[in-house]
Amino acid sequence: MTLLEFQIAGFLGRFHPLVVHLPIGFLLLAGIAEIIARKRAINLDQGISLMLLSGAVASVVAVVLGWLLAADGGYDESTLFWHRWAGVAVAVVSVAAWLAKSGKLTLASNTYKASLWGMVVLIAVTGHLGGNLTHGPNYLLEYAPEPVAQILGGSQKQHIVLADDPDSVRVYQHIIAPLLEAKCLECHNDAKVKGDLNLASPEAMLAGGDNGDVIVAGNSHDSEIFKRITLRPDSKKFMPPGGKTPLSYNEVKLIEWWLDSGADFENSVIDTGVDPEMKFVLAQLYGLDTDPKSYVERAFVEATEPENLSSLVDAGFYAQPIAANNNFIEVKKKRTTDIDKSSLKLMDKVKQQVTWLHVGGASLTDQDLTFLEGMGNLTRLHLENNPITEEGLKVIEGLPYLESLNLYGTDVTGGVLETLQSLPSLKKVYLWQSKVSPEEATQIQEALPDVDVDIGVNLSS
Ligand code: HEC
Repeated sequence: MTLLEFQIAGFLGRFHPLVVHLPIGFLLLAGIAEIIARKRAINLDQGISLMLLSGAVASVVAVVLGWLLAADGGYDESTLFWHRWAGVAVAVVSVAAWLAKSGKLTLASNTYKASLWGMVVLIAVTGHLGGNLTHGPNYLLEYAPEPVAQILGGSQKQHIVLADDPDSVRVYQHIIAPLLEAKCLECHNDAKVKGDLNLASPEAMLAGGDNGDVIVAGNSHDSEIFKRITLRPDSKKFMPPGGKTPLSYNEVKLIEWWLDSGADFENSVIDTGVDPEMKFVLAQLYGLDTDPKSYVERAFVEATEPENLSSLVDAGFYAQPIAANNNFIEVKKKRTTDIDKSSLKLMDKVKQQVTWLHVGGASLTDQDLTFLEGMGNLTRLHLENNPITEEGLKVIEGLPYLESLNLYGTDVTGGVLETLQSLPSLKKVYLWQSKVSPEEATQIQEALPDVDVDIGVNLSS
């Protein structure tokens, strides 16, 4: 073929997807007319004959154009094989049906009938395979309701709603793959592999394209997929080509981020590392909050029985979940009500759930503090304005998640350091108006550089 011939073939081939609708229409109409003619016992032979002739001519043209288009390459070979020959069969059978209907060929009436129905089935098969060639095998059932998709055996596709926990969002699976699917898979899928590149799965992507590897882990700027999406849009090599909607700036950033972080196929958003720019992009595109989560947002406990909360309320406490979707609770002595110390016992039933506990100004002594034993999920503890000392506080030693401890107006002295040192998550301690002297407070601050020690002046700054 000369270049001109090649170009003409390529040009004509592009009309195949347009022309194929004609034989489908004509031939199906012929089938329908045949049914009507029989049901009503009327003679439609002339009309049917014309429909079959038009359909036969159109199928031959579609076959020729399809042949030219296939020469373009880039299609899945086995699908193409079956599509091609099913299409040829449609043309042959429709020509035969027309010859029979118009009396140019004698066929037993049953043979004619069989050929007509065979033709309808062939059209359906050819059309379906053709659809798979252009759109990929999942196209048809992609948006089918789940039960329908299951019956028809398609759709392994998951519709992705990003979870709000960045630890459970996987960068490739939940972000990159859907981007590629939206903007690239049309031409780079299992069935249609333009540039010999399939972007539909990690394995296929790693196999590269015509010119070898398309991803260089850890280096976006050497990765062919990144180069192709960041060329000037009018460049011949720009992807997606042909004026199709390009990736947005933020989408390009996401792909760059993924490639630069090592192009891993399993890592979560958090594993991948979120810098301020990506934090912004992820929030904008996906509403994903990537700030580190506090313990109570990450951890899970079983909900307590509602009666356990109402008995606390009856005893004069405020007792409620800390958030609508969270089983951790806050228990607080109301400032204006005094509580009976015996009611501290009620907290035994919610030891796992209590994470914020306020029992300031409750006249608690060291002996009373034993009720705190086993409250392993405490993150904030208010014990201010109680006559307690470091002796009683030993009961909270080692609490793994306690972040904030208020000992304002208590009788603790510098000896409390030992207890504070045993609290690995401690961020803030209030010692104002306690028996801790300013010198001791300074020592505590020096011993605990990561903790904000508040004695009314901020020692850490
Ligand atoms: C409309 C069809 C189409 C779409 C959509 C498309 N491509 Fe392509 N792609 C091609 C064709 C055709 C080639 C081969 C010609 C070439 O290399 O420019 C190709 C080649 C490539 C290559 C070079 C492969 C190699 O090894 O030579 C890369 C990389 C690539 N595409 C990436 C992408 C990415 C990333 C997207 C999505 C943003 C995309 N493509 C979307 C048609 C498409």
